[in-house]
Amino acid sequence: DSSNLSVEHRLEEICTLLKDNVTYYDWVGFYFKNGDKNELKLSSYAGAPTDHTIIPFGKGICGQVAVSNQNFVVPDVAAQDNYIACSITVKAEIVVPLFVNGENIGQIDIDSNTPDPFTEADERFLEWVNEQVSSILA
Ligand code: SME
Repeated sequence: DSSNLSVEHRLEEICTLLKDNVTYYDWVGFYFKNGDKNELKLSSYAGAPTDHTIIPFGKGICGQVAVSNQNFVVPDVAAQDNYIACSITVKAEIVVPLFVNGENIGQIDIDSNTPDPFTEADERFLEWVNEQVSSILA
């Protein structure tokens, strides 16, 4: 019964499901705002471990989404000034904020080793994923 699994374990299963089933999703993780600190903290993920488990608001693609409350699609990470590299194999990134009761509490972050792979279909799909996660967390 999946309802007995911890939130972290259920999020990890979602990350693994996404990474294993979408060919151009090479790293999938959830970051959440860390208490009342102005930073994000990495929660569950699938893919290679990253050094960037804490990201200050405003820093990198993730930190910008923490303050913008908007999806951020990056077709070419090399063209971004405010970008935190996790792996030299990464070519593109998408970050979609996660809202609970209208509040931006975190985000799903996906890295791709394929250049310019993300479309509006990914945005709509990941918004839907986050709505499901929101209902787990609410
Ligand atoms: N590239 C992100 C950092 C997180 S890693 O992708 C896992 C950023 O620029 O915020």
